[in-house]
Amino acid sequence: MAKKESHPIDTMDKSTDNSDDKMKKSALHKFFISALQDIYYAEHALVDGLEKMQNSATTEELQDAFEDHQLQTKKHISRLEKIFGLLDEKVEKKECEAIKGLIKEADEIIKSTKEGTMTRDAALIIAAQKIEHYEIATYGGLVQLAITMEHHKVAELLEKTLIEEEETDDNLTDIAETSINFEAEEEN
Ligand SMILES: [Fe+2]
Ligand SMILES: [Fe+2]
Repeated sequence: MAKKESHPIDTMDKSTDNSDDKMKKSALHKFFISALQDIYYAEHALVDGLEKMQNSATTEELQDAFEDHQLQTKKHISRLEKIFGLLDEKVEKKECEAIKGLIKEADEIIKSTKEGTMTRDAALIIAAQKIEHYEIATYGGLVQLAITMEHHKVAELLEKTLIEEEETDDNLTDIAETSINFEAEEEN
């Protein structure tokens, strides 16, 4: 991304008393807040989604992975609440159709696979990774926007969550590749 050159007029603009108001009215700021509300909704939906996935998984390994990530997801929610506070914005959710669709897909996998099978786990891992990738895309973009808008503390918090989403994705890949996929293939 091209670096913005510092310009004396920009600097003067930022030091004026109403710079905060101006920032809040900018279209980019509005988009940023609405994207935060969107992911805030998504994280809430995922607390329930992960619970259902945990209860439906066959192996203890995958159940534990979903349980651990549900705890992290609750942390993601509190981080977002802190972020709204730092930005002096109301804590608000905005319905997110994408996450609803991804959770619905996980539900359909549960319905269409037999309980107690490795095939169910192999399929659930893919469903969970689609969710993680959605979160990674969202948080990755929001970290960069926060940096651009010079919300450094906000960027730091968003980045912590981004790293946890990436680690979860990697962990799911490991679980699939070391055992579950092979055992699913053996199944009739
Ligand atoms: Fe999350
Ligand atoms: Fe996640």
